Amino acid sequence: MKLCVNLKSNHTRTSFKKYKETLDDFLQKPCENIQVFVPSNAFCEGVLHFTQGAQNFYPAQNGAFTGEITAAQLEEFSINTVLIGHSERRALGEDEDLLKKKLDFAMEKNWNVVFCIGESKECFKAGKSLEYINSQIKQLELSYNKLVIAYEPIYSIGSGIAANYEDVARVVAFLRQGYKGGLLYGGSVNLSNIEVFKGLVDGYLIGSAGVDVGAFIEIIKRN
Ligand code: PGA
Repeated sequence: MKLCVNLKSNHTRTSFKKYKETLDDFLQKPCENIQVFVPSNAFCEGVLHFTQGAQNFYPAQNGAFTGEITAAQLEEFSINTVLIGHSERRALGEDEDLLKKKLDFAMEKNWNVVFCIGESKECFKAGKSLEYINSQIKQLELSYNKLVIAYEPIYSIGSGIAANYEDVARVVAFLRQGYKGGLLYGGSVNLSNIEVFKGLVDGYLIGSAGVDVGAFIEIIKRN
């Protein structure tokens, strides 16, 4: 299973150093399927047993992009795994055009991409989930061999309640019609529900349940 943690804006440089050391000690050998998307101020140097990923980047090598993180800055930390399309960044105004530019740039760089999609509660309740998800994937290069799609229903993220198996299975079946790559589920995944989606998806994108390194290690032990 691929186990990805999005630390969001949790952890400082100091606290992530401890997180990194504890996780590295536990893993003991390279595990590229354990991925941690780190706040950019806490990126660490050196060889790690897990994959260090970036939560965000601007699709440029460098330049006049105030406050953004560019490729040169990721490359300094040997980061070649990125998150694109998380609902919290979409909510800040990242639209399909920008997301497409980011994916195109990541493909030029040959980076690994975890691309997030997912519908709102209103959309889900209106029975329009598949239509909406189709609008989010139609511009994606689904054959890119370093693309992983994370299905994260927005109504589940941060709620403490994962989506229903049947609802996720319907979306997975829809995605599988045209997409053969890796597929993650995200949305309130924790130790008590992590078994539920086994066999349906290839892994998880975990938020709050991965902020504490001890809790993340317990999740890794289960998989
Ligand atoms: P959550 O976050 O596990 O806290 O719901 C998941 C995510 O936002 O990727």
